[in-house]
Amino acid sequence: SAAEKGGHEYFMLKEIEEQPEALANTLRGHFAGGRVILDEQRLSDQDLREVDKVFVVACGSAYHSGLVAKYAIEHWCRLPVEVELASEFRYRDPVLDRDTLVVAVSQSGETADTLEAIRHARDQKARVLAVCNTNGAQIPRESDAVLYTHAGPEVGVAATKTFLSQIAANYLVGLALAQARGTKYPDEVAREFAELEGMSAAVHKVLSTVDQVRELSRGIADSKAVLFLGRHVGYPVALEGALKLKELAYMHAEAFAAGELKHGPIALIEEGLPVVVVMPSPKGRAVLHAKLVSNISEIQARGARTIVIAEEGDDTVRPFADELIEVPAVPTLLQPLVSTVPLQVLSAEIARSRGYDVDKPRNLAKSVTVE
Ligand code: G6P
Repeated sequence: SAAEKGGHEYFMLKEIEEQPEALANTLRGHFAGGRVILDEQRLSDQDLREVDKVFVVACGSAYHSGLVAKYAIEHWCRLPVEVELASEFRYRDPVLDRDTLVVAVSQSGETADTLEAIRHARDQKARVLAVCNTNGAQIPRESDAVLYTHAGPEVGVAATKTFLSQIAANYLVGLALAQARGTKYPDEVAREFAELEGMSAAVHKVLSTVDQVRELSRGIADSKAVLFLGRHVGYPVALEGALKLKELAYMHAEAFAAGELKHGPIALIEEGLPVVVVMPSPKGRAVLHAKLVSNISEIQARGARTIVIAEEGDDTVRPFADELIEVPAVPTLLQPLVSTVPLQVLSAEIARSRGYDVDKPRNLAKSVTVE
């Protein structure tokens, strides 16, 4: 009913708007006095100190949250992090032993591929930490430690608030590792975690772009395809934006790391093709920012319609943006928490313009319990 949707036309929009609260709930209880507290902790600090490699295994949007985690954990902890699609993981012959930490990210905690991946990891003596939104689900039950995301139940099939909560939880896993093992960058890590607590407010601010994105989505609904470009943590955000558009609007959507543009994707650019670009911060990542501005000018010169997600006050990119969606300035590693939000709205609103049921996309299930 309309009341259940909190006055929204569809649950997904309600859940998008619940993201500031979901984030706060993920942090609450797990992050106090600058320290991380895990649930069902059966891993000692000594175990965490012995870790020499991390695998994140997950499917769908959860996999994209893992890609974000890689940038953060490698930098903060100087530990190699591989992010693996759970469905590929155990059929490859991954190198695992007792010093390997496998982080299984799953909203439902019941995804068959992710469950089988951790079973394989445990058979090889690896330690398993689950990031999960569902208390007592199978994946946390079979893990050595758990971090529950507490995002609340999600009705929309496509992940929104649970995705943002997964990203935040993965940062907490990074911080837990950094605290147990020490970090080369204590000041930076402390600063980023202080800012993490303010991210609810930043996400709340991004929600003010909903009307702009809704308006803009009408002009894209008839396109044949949409491309997404990003770099660094903006690349997984681009992947998530493309996945959402496929899931909800049934459109061909592809994401590329912007540095690959000249190695193929630029051949796809044609008059009127919408290209969504996730910009890094002009201050935080000046070099990458300049490279992306140059990419955008090239695709715009070839007739693409550029839709640019950029930090507030980013004036350099403005001349190349046919549409500019501004998000608050936040530390680079935390940027996915704000830049993902307009892309969620974009895919939902394009789907609506095309007449589709945003909450129940065809052929998809909220939780995939068969391989
Ligand atoms: C399904 C859902 C996706 C989700 C994926 C992984 O495909 O439609 O939204 O990202 O499963 O689900 P999990 O519960 O393991 O996070």
